[in-house]
Amino acid sequence: MRQTLVVGNWKMNGSRASVAHLLGEILEAIPASGAEVAVCPSYVHLAQAIELCAGSAVAVGAQDCSRMPAGAYTGEVSADMLVDQGCRWVILGHSERRQYHAESDALIAEKLSAAVAAGLQVIVCVGETREQRESGEAEAVVAGQLRGALQGQENLAGLVVAYEPVWAIGTGLTASPEQAQAMHAFIRACLSGLAGVDADATRVLYGGSVKAGNANQLFAQQDIDGALVGGAALDAGEFLAIVGAGAA
Ligand code: 13P
Repeated sequence: MRQTLVVGNWKMNGSRASVAHLLGEILEAIPASGAEVAVCPSYVHLAQAIELCAGSAVAVGAQDCSRMPAGAYTGEVSADMLVDQGCRWVILGHSERRQYHAESDALIAEKLSAAVAAGLQVIVCVGETREQRESGEAEAVVAGQLRGALQGQENLAGLVVAYEPVWAIGTGLTASPEQAQAMHAFIRACLSGLAGVDADATRVLYGGSVKAGNANQLFAQQDIDGALVGGAALDAGEFLAIVGAGAA
């Protein structure tokens, strides 16, 4: 039985005031039991969020980390630094990192090793573009991303995969529950072929325009184990409703 996981990816949004307000609303109404919950603010808001969430059911994660442990890497943040701050999670390989920072599967694999070594729980993102889906390459692209990031890794217990079709991110277009379920089942089949991965225990989240209005249907699918939420995670009411859908 995989516990539903709902993660808010706040991307490059927020201020000290808005973080305090949003987390205040979330923490006040978070259900005592049900979906596991994490929020991923920007690096500069991590310490504030960790302090606010201390002792609550909400864990805090980062949106990226360096592949390197320490040293002369200006602008980077290491996995150890995140753990030292009190982070539990890190998102790696988000399509916006792949697109705007030219992150390759090989780089994501290095970041994954660093994050696992530091003791972080990792959410690895995969997903095809609209062109790739339209040309029938979606499964091949996702399989390649999974292999590229996960093959040869040690210690992948607790790994989480997020399927985020690029065409559904921030567009209001959501994969239908059936489309998403088909890809999630395919991802689980790919995972079962990788050494060191317990495919049945690995949670596969869906991401891409998840909101209160579609979360129930998505979570009802056999291989959808939760959501990685962007825009709707910035609205406490929407986010709490998605968390509530995960508890059903
Ligand atoms: P939206 O929910 O805004 O589509 O973003 C999804 C996403 O990229 C989460 O990581």
